[in-house]
Amino acid sequence: MEIIKTLGEFIIDQQTEYPDASGELTSLFSSIRLAAKILHREINKAGLADIMGSAGEDNVQGEQQQKLDVYANERFKNALAQRGVVCGIASEEEEEFVTFEETKNLDGKYVVLIDPLDGSSNIDVNVSVGTIFSIYRRVSPLGSHVTEEDFLQPGHKQIAAGYVIYGSSTMLVYSTGNGVNGFTYDPTIGVFCLSHPNLKIPADGNIYSVNEGNYIHFPDGVKKYIKYCQEEDTTTNRPYTSRYIGSLVSDFHRNLIKGGIYLYPTSSRYPNGKLRLLYECNPMAYLIEQAGGTAVATTGQRILDIEPTTLHQRCPLFVGSPNMVGKLEEFITEFG
Ligand code: AHG
Ligand code: MN
Ligand code: MN
Ligand code: MN
Repeated sequence: MEIIKTLGEFIIDQQTEYPDASGELTSLFSSIRLAAKILHREINKAGLADIMGSAGEDNVQGEQQQKLDVYANERFKNALAQRGVVCGIASEEEEEFVTFEETKNLDGKYVVLIDPLDGSSNIDVNVSVGTIFSIYRRVSPLGSHVTEEDFLQPGHKQIAAGYVIYGSSTMLVYSTGNGVNGFTYDPTIGVFCLSHPNLKIPADGNIYSVNEGNYIHFPDGVKKYIKYCQEEDTTTNRPYTSRYIGSLVSDFHRNLIKGGIYLYPTSSRYPNGKLRLLYECNPMAYLIEQAGGTAVATTGQRILDIEPTTLHQRCPLFVGSPNMVGKLEEFITEFG
């Protein structure tokens, strides 16, 4: 008989195997798991309920907030505030970090940074979206007020990170620093089940993912690399395949499983790139390194080593199969 391991069982096993993993982290994951199930439910009936379209406001980055951006933000915020282990969060949809003092979470050990709904421009057209999260131990003393420094930590200090993909099935993929594991949601029993143990990205791949509409504005090294991807060369399996969904979580997830490279470079419209360091680039960089891949902002600049200065700062992102990212770095070194 096939043995099914649930996310809950998996987390408990990890707790006994790795003394560092505490019951508090288990509780934190329960919050994320619960909010993900609620989002799954809402997203799956998005066409029927009045939850598509714009919420009528812009967020701090000047993007139009979608109703589901707001809904997802509230759901995750409430779930994370409930259990006393998180002292505050920072979110794409909140200008300032949020403290959980009213819920008496001053003793919470952890802070969470979150992109509650990634790819939200895709929601109205039934394309996969996601949630991205990043977890740190706070640096301020327990019992005190949470500070901005608690959130402005370099990515290598993350103690866990992950994403939920609301795709043809819903999956939760996460790491606590001991590899990456993926769990598929079975909505008939309401449980995430281990389906992708110990995910490793292939060292090489043949998929490149980039919004090529911005090509004219890319740096020369990136332009030359894209041309390299398109050239014929049977020994290196080129031309590569181009795949771009426009939801970071979905593009990342595909490349993690199949091998590939994802690029969001600087451009004249986005001089620092578009993606946000703290709740998009860092968690994905943590996951890819745990899966044997690479994530850089430019040649030799590991994403996880960047010292953040502001909550919503942006950052170029090149992430994926190590040999592909290495090749891109050669082009950036040579052509800038
Ligand atoms: P979000 O929906 O959380 O604001 O993120 C949007 C991001 C990311 O999901 C995606 O990969 C990227 O924006 C797409 O940007 P372009 O439309 O510029 O390609
Ligand atoms: Mn957004
Ligand atoms: Mn996003
Ligand atoms: Mn978002």
